[in-house]
Amino acid sequence: MSDIQSFRDAIEAFITARGWTATRFGRQIAGDPLFVFDLREGREPRSDTRARILKAMQEQAEAPAAPPLRIGVAGLGNVGATLVRILQKDGGELTRKIGRAVTVTAVCARNRSRDRGIDLSSVQWFDDPVALAKSDGIDLFVELIGGEDGPALAAVRAALEIGRPVVTANKALLARHGVALARLAEDNNAQLGFEAAVAGGIPVIKTLREGLGSARIARVYGIMNGTCNYILTRMGNEGIGFAECLADAQRLGYAEADPTFDVGGFDTAHKLAILASLCFGCEIAPDEIFVEGITRITQADIKVAGDLGYKIKLLGIAQRSADGIEQRVHPTLVPKGSALAGVDGVMNAVALETDHVHELLLAGPGAGGPPTASSVLSDILDIARGTRVPPLGVPSQELTPYRQAPMKAHEGGYYIRLNVKDVPGAFAAIASRMGSAGISLESVIQRSDLRVTDGAAGEGETRTVVLITHSTMEQTVREALALIAADGFIVGVPQLIRIEAL
Ligand SMILES: NC(=O)c1ccc[n+]([C@@H]2O[C@H](COP(=O)([O-])OP(=O)(O)OC[C@H]3O[C@@H](n4cnc5c(N)ncnc54)[C@H](OP(=O)(O)O)[C@@H]3O)[C@@H](O)[C@H]2O)c1
Repeated sequence: MSDIQSFRDAIEAFITARGWTATRFGRQIAGDPLFVFDLREGREPRSDTRARILKAMQEQAEAPAAPPLRIGVAGLGNVGATLVRILQKDGGELTRKIGRAVTVTAVCARNRSRDRGIDLSSVQWFDDPVALAKSDGIDLFVELIGGEDGPALAAVRAALEIGRPVVTANKALLARHGVALARLAEDNNAQLGFEAAVAGGIPVIKTLREGLGSARIARVYGIMNGTCNYILTRMGNEGIGFAECLADAQRLGYAEADPTFDVGGFDTAHKLAILASLCFGCEIAPDEIFVEGITRITQADIKVAGDLGYKIKLLGIAQRSADGIEQRVHPTLVPKGSALAGVDGVMNAVALETDHVHELLLAGPGAGGPPTASSVLSDILDIARGTRVPPLGVPSQELTPYRQAPMKAHEGGYYIRLNVKDVPGAFAAIASRMGSAGISLESVIQRSDLRVTDGAAGEGETRTVVLITHSTMEQTVREALALIAADGFIVGVPQLIRIEAL
């Protein structure tokens, strides 16, 4: 083999072994970013240049390599196994970005014999997540078990207590214990990353903590649950009922066997609680959220809303008001022309209203193994680079106590669906109650094709009527509806859906 050929081979082997790019070799070793490209095209450097480069390669080879970042992953389910797979397959790209290898050295799950489609032959196995979190064989602990207490909480605490950085995708854990864990992380000088905990693959936490770190945020709202969005989208597009859509979502793996957490709005509430803390610098308050799910949404609601120019979406909304911070999760009428109305299926979107940037919309996949693992990787990258930001955006000692604005003080437009008894005077009585309460009606819709019955006893002949109000106080609407119910002209529970100005 010629000298020049062995020189070329040595360079290619050097690049491959380190996972470097040709450009990096050119810059760092040869002093010319295009050196390798020219070499590949047949350029023959002079012998003194070759000698200089071979010497630089030798020195580089002898220099101590940065030790790999050793990752311990607890939980090898949907997200955990995907994370390990990506790190094993595409770890070179991460190495290139941070200048050191990132290696999964230890894992933990319940069932050791389950085939997860990943190679665990050279990885240490732990049965106990706390033992993994404290193990000397890792530098960073990733919690992907789930659950707000139990092993996830114990393991995250154990890692932070010894100053070990933690990355988690666990919204329930963060919503319940986020402030205490942030404090623990700060006290022990450890990083705590949870990008994947809110809206899966959408980098909303980093945007709030860093990109918008200096902005004053007035309102955050969005579609944060793919299961609900999938169900509402299909109900709207295909004219089918809630139960049928839910059954399909379960069959396709978008909804759990017990869907209460998703369709009841509680999953969205957890995410909203975390976002509200980051947006408003307050403590996380998951129990102070008004939560209403999508189980009572009917085809009639979707159809009337559509005819009026709206779509129904389950939104999580948090905003500052004079009375404190308003946090609410409920089905919402959003104008068809708004950006959120276009976010369909399992997609998520979060809108942030700030003083200077005005509105920012982040949209993308809110769940699933690869998008969620991608957010976990983004936290790992930050920690490996040494980025240090208080977990909740401000030091935990600076978080203000949460002051809840009462839901009754909420002001906006309302969609009200009533089953009105088909008797003389019923409509006049309803209109009179609304008028006396000072509620101005934008429209009154009564169509024979929109009959919804609650199956209430003694229902008799009823007509389904929809009232759309102009902006009014929630308390006023509720009081008027209570009086209408007491008058005895309606059957069943009125359907009340808020209209959000977007
Ligand atoms: N899936 C998503 O799309 C998504 C999106 C955003 C955030 N997240 C969050 O990511 C986390 C993980 O979700 P996932 O969907 O990957 O859950 P998953 O598929 O149910 O996986 C959970 C894993 O934890 C392991 N595990 C459970 N209890 C354990 C224990 N006591 N000790 C050790 N291991 C235990 C299980 O072990 P076995 O496999 O042996 O049973 C399993 O590997 C959750 O916090 C979730 O909220 C998920």
